[in-house]
Amino acid sequence: MTNLKDRTGKIILNNQIAKDIYKMVIAFDDMPEDIKGGQFIHIKLTDNSHVLRRPFCICDFDMDKKTVAVCYAVVGEGTKEMTKYSEGMTIKAMMPLGNGFVPDDNMKKIVLLGGGMGSAVLPAVPKAFGDREYYTYLGFANKDKVVLEEEMKALSKEVVVATDDGSYGKKGFVTNILAEDMAKLKPDAVFCCGPEVMYKALKKALAPFDVPIIVSLEARMGCGIGACLVCNCKVKRNGEEGYLRVCADGPVFRLDEVVL
Ligand SMILES: Cc1cc2nc3c(=O)[nH]c(=O)nc-3n(C[C@H](O)[C@H](O)[C@H](O)COP(=O)(O)OP(=O)(O)OC[C@H]3O[C@@H](n4cnc5c(N)ncnc54)[C@H](O)[C@@H]3O)c2cc1C
Ligand code: FES
Repeated sequence: MTNLKDRTGKIILNNQIAKDIYKMVIAFDDMPEDIKGGQFIHIKLTDNSHVLRRPFCICDFDMDKKTVAVCYAVVGEGTKEMTKYSEGMTIKAMMPLGNGFVPDDNMKKIVLLGGGMGSAVLPAVPKAFGDREYYTYLGFANKDKVVLEEEMKALSKEVVVATDDGSYGKKGFVTNILAEDMAKLKPDAVFCCGPEVMYKALKKALAPFDVPIIVSLEARMGCGIGACLVCNCKVKRNGEEGYLRVCADGPVFRLDEVVL
């Protein structure tokens, strides 16, 4: 069920962690009972010039400390505004929204694959389902954009980092690097978050392997709760094409159902 509750949170950290990328940690008195990796938080900006909320995946959470972390790239006015938020400020946010990554019972060994800021989805997956074995592959444009490597090392058996230009880690597209390791890894599933172009490449690179690929989609959002229909994505289910809402039906879908 969609979580319509608007929660008040207090910012306890808002630091730059890489070029144009920030990590914000928010404490909530009324934490939700359950959070899954891939679910998102819809943040209301504090200046009233931005009417629409901004969606960010829940990167990490701590039920004991009652905190939620997001990692955000500064891409426009809203995220630039967020960089000015200081510790102690209160903000309003709806969360957790969307379906999230839920491994089937037979998915014991899971590859977590992140492309750029999409990597921000990943830490919350093992946090929510700690009884699986995780292997993480992270791809970034260059070394200035590398984030979350240490966090994922603490949550995975292995972490492989690649950059397109080879300025950090392995050189090349992380989808191809994963494809080279697939025969050795034999995972039960691949959970991925990145840009759409990455999903096209992933589909092709992993075509020889019989493995379920689950992805988190992005779309421009309005309400974030399934009411305004601006966030549609095209899917094909049971042979029929149709549209679903990224915010309420997703953002997590099977890649073989998404029409790219
Ligand atoms: C479910 C979900 C989870 C997300 N998680 C994260 C996250 O963890 N970290 C993160 O940095 N970003 C995330 N995003 C994207 C983030 O919401 C946008 O970057 C942000 O809203 C931009 O706000 P802005 O006001 O700075 O930019 P705007 O001024 O609104 O736009 C600036 C530029 O960003 C592009 N943009 C804006 N929104 C989106 C979007 N939803 N998808 C793709 N491009 C967009 C615009 O086309 C434009 O080029 C997520 C988006 C969704 C839908
Ligand atoms: S953002 Fe309104 S229906 Fe998805």
